[in-house]
Amino acid sequence: MSAPAPSTGEQLPVRTAAVWAALDPVVASGEALRVLDVGGGSGGFAVPLARLGHQVTVVDPSADALATLQRRAQTAGVGERVRGLQGDGDLLHELPLDDGHGAGGGYDLALCHSVLEVVDDPSATLREVTRALRPGGQVSIATANRAGAVLARALGGHPREALALLEDRDPAPSRTRPARRRFGPGDLLALVTGAGLEPGEWRGVAVVADLLDAASGAGPEAVRRLELALAVTSPYRDVATGLHVLATRP
Ligand SMILES: C[S@@+](CC[C@H](N)C(=O)[O-])C[C@H]1O[C@@H](n2cnc3c(N)ncnc32)[C@H](O)[C@@H]1O
Repeated sequence: MSAPAPSTGEQLPVRTAAVWAALDPVVASGEALRVLDVGGGSGGFAVPLARLGHQVTVVDPSADALATLQRRAQTAGVGERVRGLQGDGDLLHELPLDDGHGAGGGYDLALCHSVLEVVDDPSATLREVTRALRPGGQVSIATANRAGAVLARALGGHPREALALLEDRDPAPSRTRPARRRFGPGDLLALVTGAGLEPGEWRGVAVVADLLDAASGAGPEAVRRLELALAVTSPYRDVATGLHVLATRP
């Protein structure tokens, strides 16, 4: 099966433009891939990837998110290319990962987007994801960036929370849910190499998209092009809302 090959970045939200720019060379080559989306939720990435012709398995503990995923996939006409599995990212080996499209071999591509912040053990999750890839397979990892969170809290009028985040303390210790983890680029790269993966260049995700006033009148295409340039340029990428790296299983 060959996938239609338009670049995915054009129609998708500006704040994820840097992620799609990193994925484009992998997913828009015309080859249909087997994709594992860990913590894929309701399909913000899975459905566009299925529309490009890829076979996507989403693992997520939330039954509600998986139900929404199936509805979105059906509506987009790609229900047969999207499969939901209820489960945890750090226990992938317990799931029936074989999708019947790869003779039992590993996945070509895994996504691990906005999920290392909430899993019990990010190292264990990345090791499980690595095991699920074929040799030469790639994983796209996106996380919250600690520096971006510090600035967002400060600009939002919460200097004490900003300082707590800067010092790696819980900004709201009285709440019952555990704090969402944040990462610096060094933390993320250490996790990636610790899982036996070879990282590519890291990018900043949403350097200005989250700072822009919706009423600014800035054209979305101009903002998208700016985001793509800032995503790979220090010091701008260092204070982005998120971090992204594409890594390869040797
Ligand atoms: C912020 S959403 C991200 C959704 C999607 N990856 C995206 O980028 O749009 C986090 C997702 O992680 C899922 N999640 C929470 N704990 C998880 C775990 N232990 N393993 C896998 N997914 C988990 C949640 O149910 C939720 O769908």
